[in-house]
Amino acid sequence: MIGFEGRVAIVTGAGAGIGRCHALGLAARGAKVIVNDFNDPDTVVAEIRDAGGQAMSCHADVSDVAAVNATMQRAVAEWGRIDIVVNNAGILRDKTFAKMPLEDMRLVLDVHLIGSVNVTNSAWQHMREQGYGRVLFTSSSSGLYGNFGQANYGAAKAAMVGLMNVLHLEGERYDIRVNCLAPTATTQMTADLLSPEAAEVLAPETITPGVLWLVSEDAPSKMIMGAGGGSFTEIRITETRGITLPLDALTPEAVAAAAAAIRNPEGAAPVHSAFEQTNTFAERAIAMRAARSKTA
Ligand code: NAI
Repeated sequence: MIGFEGRVAIVTGAGAGIGRCHALGLAARGAKVIVNDFNDPDTVVAEIRDAGGQAMSCHADVSDVAAVNATMQRAVAEWGRIDIVVNNAGILRDKTFAKMPLEDMRLVLDVHLIGSVNVTNSAWQHMREQGYGRVLFTSSSSGLYGNFGQANYGAAKAAMVGLMNVLHLEGERYDIRVNCLAPTATTQMTADLLSPEAAEVLAPETITPGVLWLVSEDAPSKMIMGAGGGSFTEIRITETRGITLPLDALTPEAVAAAAAAIRNPEGAAPVHSAFEQTNTFAERAIAMRAARSKTA
């Protein structure tokens, strides 16, 4: 059984949509939940309390670092710890890149990226000190695969993966596990885009079981989970084996001629950290040079 007895969680943007379901799901399994939403967190707090759970309201805009820090201090003063951060708050400002005002680019990055940084950062020190933490970033297929008219949102959502990759490494020794979610669900954000039948099966409640696992005691780390309508997948960044050209024969034509081999997905694998790639490339170049000097 996955349970959250004794755990304290914050869910941002939890007044509605997918975040609301995460907050209710965590509370139903014993977590004390800080329900954040700059719109209306109080209704969800009341729902949790009516069902016998524990919750506190947080009206902060996640992009306001002072307000976020004040919330975290209040929660830690009252409940003694912070174990789980579910970064979910989000907005859209869709326009083609050609027509997008810079303010819309900044605003969306501010809410999704800086908001997630603010909330996670204000919990990070507590999680390090207690040697336990679970962090979830809400990414999106728009950032991972692309979606017309969402340059601001796609950039912000892809940034979640970069944050996860680094925080996974920095959190590992403190048992802080960090994952990403790429959900698809019917909410006020997407209702107009879906057929009635799709809208019905893609209820936001269908995402939460995946999230509860991703923030549980036995959670994986550095996983990007796709979720919606009962489907759960893993989205992976892998690198192909590619080719190694001799250092004295590096031309764009040689690269072009090898394009099929460079892009051949057979044997592609995830890379565990940036320096693993650096070391692989260095080793391969050194081996190639040694082989060339032997035959010369
Ligand atoms: P929603 O619009 O129903 O809920 C988002 C909530 O976040 C709202 O209650 C809103 O008031 C709150 N919020 C927005 N900005 C905030 C801020 N600066 N500070 C505090 N609260 C703020 O949206 P939905 O669909 O539930 O989305 C939840 C997350 O999932 C978002 O990050 C969204 O980008 C992401 N997502 C949703 C998808 C979908 O199919 N619905 C697809 C991919 C990603």
